[in-house]
Parts: sequence; structure tokens; C-alpha cells
Amino acid sequence: MEDRPVNARFPAARPRRLRRTPALRRLVAETRLHPSELILPMFVKEGIDAPNPVSSMPGVFQHTPDSLRKAAEEAAAAGVGGLILFGIPEAKDERGSAADDPDGVVQKALRDLSSDLGGDIVIMADLCLDEYTSHGHCGLLTPAGEVDNDATLERYASIAVAQAEAGVQVVGPSGMMDGQVAAIRAALDGAGHHEVAILAYAAKYASAFYGPFREAAEGAPQFGDRTGYQQDPANAAEALREVELDVAEGADMVMVKPGLAYLDIVAKVAESCPVPVSAYQVSGEYAMVEAAAEKGWLDRERAIMETLLGFRRAGAAQILTYWAVEAAHMLR
Ligand code: PBG
Repeated sequence: MEDRPVNARFPAARPRRLRRTPALRRLVAETRLHPSELILPMFVKEGIDAPNPVSSMPGVFQHTPDSLRKAAEEAAAAGVGGLILFGIPEAKDERGSAADDPDGVVQKALRDLSSDLGGDIVIMADLCLDEYTSHGHCGLLTPAGEVDNDATLERYASIAVAQAEAGVQVVGPSGMMDGQVAAIRAALDGAGHHEVAILAYAAKYASAFYGPFREAAEGAPQFGDRTGYQQDPANAAEALREVELDVAEGADMVMVKPGLAYLDIVAKVAESCPVPVSAYQVSGEYAMVEAAAEKGWLDRERAIMETLLGFRRAGAAQILTYWAVEAAHMLR
């Protein structure tokens, strides 16, 4: 003891003092999570009579109208802030006709949920064509097999109006067509739906982490990939430009997607964006943790909370996550 140098016995700064007890750590935590900022993505499928488990996403189901309603009620009761619907129609065609059919699978679900849950949880719908087209692309195709941007905008406009008439509160265009937010805003306003908000998938990357989702939503492209319209993972400045354009076109909220591999983008966007910034913890991120936990390779609950906290720390105001309900319970 005596011959230890003085500075080793008395460090001038001891950050550990504030880490000593759970109460101290809680007192000084810089970031907090709350169930109300979580959004649960949900799948509803036409023509099934029991919920269908998604094998690559343990704990996630393709719902029937009944099981959807029950799960939505559970989410609302847990205090989850919002839910976003993805529909899987029975019949697909070249132009994705079921997407804007007033009796399409999502429109029916919206009518059902918004009538009595709309006050308790924000009801959103993904707005895209990939689950509805026979070719699995997010838009209409040119004869050469490329996605036709401007023809697709007309389809998106019509889907937005169909979802609005069915009671959606927020639409989430995810197709990455240029001008999609402006086209949707104009269509909604033209049909008298000024109240419907737009959560723009503004910076959406062409990602391998969407793999399990394509099983869940049955929307894998039948040829090619989405690199002609989704962003290149190499780019960051492009994300800021996409966000700027979407905000100028009338986006009420913007999203960065995927999350974990793009936290730098979340942080950059959150720094300058004048509207709320959400991040989507996508299917592959969910599957990675579930698979590793199943093997006993990591502590599942701690990993879930750590990733969610990471999104908030990076600056995401809302988080879309398949763990929304479970995380809400953990936070209570
Ligand atoms: C497209 C869409 C996708 C996801 C959400 N909307 C798939 C894609 O772009 O290929 C992925 C979500 C996830 O992986 O959890 N409508």
C-alpha cells in the first residue's frame, strides 16, 4: 500500500461511482425507452383459417382477421404506440389489383381495427405493391421488365386513397419510387383525407436483412432484385437527400431502414431532420437475435433491449420492431 504511487490510489476521476447501483444508473441514464414509441409490424393473410407461423421469424405470424384483432388488442393493452399492417392477398396479378381494392385484405383489416382500436393505438399501413404483384416487384413493370416509376405513382396514389377510406391513420410508402410522397399527399388531399399522415420510408437500403420478411409477406421478387430502386448500402449522403426530398414533398415522419447496420444514417438524419425520425429493426435483425438465442449463444432479452436502446441513442424517435409487445412488457 505505502509504496504505491499516489495517483494510482486516488484517480482524479471515478466514472464508476455513478455505475455502482441500479438506482444510480437509473438516475443518470441518458436514454430511455418507452412502449409508446414502439411500432409493431403485423401480417394479415387472406384465405387462411388459422394463424400461420413464419418459420424464419419465431413468434411472428401471418394473421387471420380474428387473430390480427386479438394481437392488435394485446399490443394496445401493452401500451405499444402503433401498428403497421402488411397484407398478403389470395390472388396476385401484374398490377397488384388487390392493393387498392376496397375489399382487399388490408382495407378489410383497417376497417375492422380502426373502428374500435383507433383511439388506443396508431393504425398504420405499409403502402407498396410487392406483396400484391405476381412478379413481386414494388411497382408496375415496363415491357423491358424494369420498374416504371411514374406509372407506379398512380397505383400508390390509388392505394393511399383506398387505405384512407378504410380508416388508416398513417400510410407508410415503402417502394422507393421518386416522387411517391408528393403523389400520395396530392391524392389524399384530393380525396378529402387531409388528416391522414405519411410516414415515408425515406432512406431504404437494398438489404439482405429483409430475407425473413419476404417469407412472412410472400413478396420476394420473382426475377432480379430491388437494387434499381432501393439505396446502395455504400451511400450516406444519398440518404440525406432522400430525406430532404420526402420532407419537401410533405412527409410527416421519415424512416431509416434497416436499423442496426445503418445507425450512422439514423444519427445523421436525426441531427438535421425537422420531422420525427423512425428506424425499422427489420426481419433479419430479429431473426439473427432469435437464432443466436435459440442456440444459447446470447441472452435474448438483454440483446433485444440493447438493440432498442441503440436505436434511441442514435436518435430514432420511434422504432418499428417485431418485439414491440414483448419489449413493452419488459419495460413495464
Ligand atoms: C416492401 C417492404 C419490405 C420490408 C418492408 N416493406 C421488403 C423489401 O423491401 O424487400 C422489409 C421489412 C423487414 O424486413 O422486416 N414492401
